[in-house]
Order: sequence, then structure tokens, then C-alpha cells
Amino acid sequence: MPKKKKVQSPEMNRIYNEDNWTLTERMEPEPVDILFTDPPYVTEPLVDDMPMWEWAYLRLAAIAGHVLKPSGFVITYAPQAHLPDIMDILKTGSTCGICTNDSPRLNYFWIIQSINSGPVIKAHKWNALCLHKPILIYQKGEFKSPSRCFADVLRGKRQKRFHPWQQSIQDVIGILDRFMMPGQVLYDPFAGTGTTLLAGKLLGMQWIGAEIDENTYKKAMNQLSQSTFEGLDHFEKVPE
Ligand SMILES: C[S@@+](CC[C@H](N)C(=O)[O-])C[C@H]1O[C@@H](n2cnc3c(N)ncnc32)[C@H](O)[C@@H]1O
Repeated sequence: MPKKKKVQSPEMNRIYNEDNWTLTERMEPEPVDILFTDPPYVTEPLVDDMPMWEWAYLRLAAIAGHVLKPSGFVITYAPQAHLPDIMDILKTGSTCGICTNDSPRLNYFWIIQSINSGPVIKAHKWNALCLHKPILIYQKGEFKSPSRCFADVLRGKRQKRFHPWQQSIQDVIGILDRFMMPGQVLYDPFAGTGTTLLAGKLLGMQWIGAEIDENTYKKAMNQLSQSTFEGLDHFEKVPE
């Protein structure tokens, strides 16, 4: 009988230049406390005959089904144009794919608005000026409040040093700081330049990420070499 190839479990505190599904499949069930991510918003190219954004949020839900601990949080940027569809996907999609256990579903928890500090973008089809970015928070299964009180409007600084899609690290730190405990595990399956992972690292979390594009992955490696808060004027004061 041919020997079964042993699958190498991924290490913590690393970003992998690979597809997030293959990385997720190599992870044990439910090691992750917080999934914090920013999936691609674009429509094209189609993936599995669906718009890329739809595929990406379905994948996020399936990843949560496999790796997120009970009462763990999914925190994700989400475009205004597709919010109802994304909320449906997150609610129902967490039981698909590689999730074989009786994993509880994701439940809506809250929505945070991040005020845009860069140039105003116009959504031409809707004739809307986008002055904020929604950040959705879902929780797996049983309700549990986060470790600290969080604010649901943020004014992060613009930050596009590494990539045009890069998100503000001030926003990410401002949110993560309220939901995490040091030593907990953060996973970003659409890591881009590593903004969320750097925030988790600086806050004392264990972290792991996937980025499929090699150039972006290299930028993430560069950004993740930072090991202090220096240069990051990050916190907005939130009452306890
Ligand atoms: C919106 S960007 C994330 C930007 C990030 N927030 C930052 O601050 O740089 C989404 C990222 O997901 C990556 N991506 C898309 N499909 C992926 C997949 N199947 N596995 C891993 N990464 C993927 C893209 O290459 C892109 O860099």
C-alpha cells in the first residue's frame, strides 16, 4: 500500500506565499481566535463562474468554518455595494467546503465605519461618494463580548506606502486591540501587504497569513520586518 504523504502543519508567525485554501487545509481545526481580513472587492476575473468578490467572501466563510474557534471573531472589510449579499454569504457559507465538523455558524455581531481620510472615491453606478468603509464583525456560534469596549467609528490615517489596496494600520490596531488578548491567534487569509498581521504582531498576538501574489507577498515580508510601534501614531482614545 502506498505510504500516505504527511502534511506539514503551517507554523505560526509566518506569512505564506500560497493559496489560502491550501494553507487552511493544512491547519488543525479551530486554532484561530480572530480572522481579520480584506478580501478582493473586484468583480473580474470570474472565479468558479461567480464575481471574484462573491467567491472571496464564500471562501472566507468556509475558512472560518474550519479554523475559527467557537465564539471567535471574523472581522472583514466589505464594500457598500454588496453588503446584503456579503452578509448572506457570511451567515450561510460557513458550513461549506472542508468544514466537516458540526461547526456553529457565523452570527452578525456589529458593523464599524472607517472614515476615509484619502481622496474621495465615487461609486459611479450609484452616484455615491464613498466617505467611509464598512468593517463587518461576525462571531462563530455562541455570543461572547470582546475583551474591551470598542468604538464603531474610526478615523484611520491614509496609508498606501506598499500597495494601492493597503488598509490603514491605525484602524486595524484600533479594532484588534479591543477584540484580542496577547498570545491569541490571528489569521489573515487575504493578507496583501501584511497590514493586519503587523498589527497583530505588534499587539503580541500569534499570527499567520496567506498571500497568493508573489510581489505583494514580498512587500508583506518587508512590512512585517517592523517590530516596534515606531512611526505608527496609532491609537484613537476609546472610553473603557
Ligand atoms: C484587498 S487585498 C488586501 C490588502 C491588505 N488589506 C493590505 O493592507 O495590503 C486582497 C489580497 O488578497 C490576495 N488574494 C486573492 N486571492 C487569494 C487567495 N486565493 N489566497 C491568498 N491570497 C489571495 C490578493 O493577491 C490581494 O493582495
